[in-house]
Amino acid sequence: MRRPIIGITSLVLFAIACGSSDAPMGSGVYGGMSKGEQLYRMNCVLCHGGNGKLGFNGAKDLTASVLTKAEMTARVSEGKGVMQPFKNMLTAKEIDAVVDHVRALAKKK
Ligand code: HEC
Repeated sequence: MRRPIIGITSLVLFAIACGSSDAPMGSGVYGGMSKGEQLYRMNCVLCHGGNGKLGFNGAKDLTASVLTKAEMTARVSEGKGVMQPFKNMLTAKEIDAVVDHVRALAKKK
């Protein structure tokens, strides 16, 4: 009895279709991300979560932040409480990019 190969084909298509279905921020691969989003995923997700709301270790909900961009940049550079200063880990340009990403998260909700 012959078995159609269609089973395998649809499995592969299924896997491809699911590859990009990660929660609000879209793809789970670094490839399609902005610089700021990559940096955020590498440095901030641990406490703030992918959408900024995680609040682990007493971290603030970033989507509810009322800080201005300048204040946020200072907070990320200097750190506060459990959050370490990032000025020695990231360049000023990188901090700028990651802050832009945080501000974009807030708008998306
Ligand atoms: C070790 C956990 C931790 C990591 C990692 C971390 N944060 Fe935080 N973050 C916190 C905590 C805790 C606070 C609250 C500090 C406070 O106000 O006492 C905070 C506060 C903030 C605030 C201020 C929010 C507000 O409205 O007051 C910003 C902005 C922020 N974090 C951005 C970032 C960014 C960007 C990164 C990555 C570069 C990052 N954080 C990484 C724990 C973390």
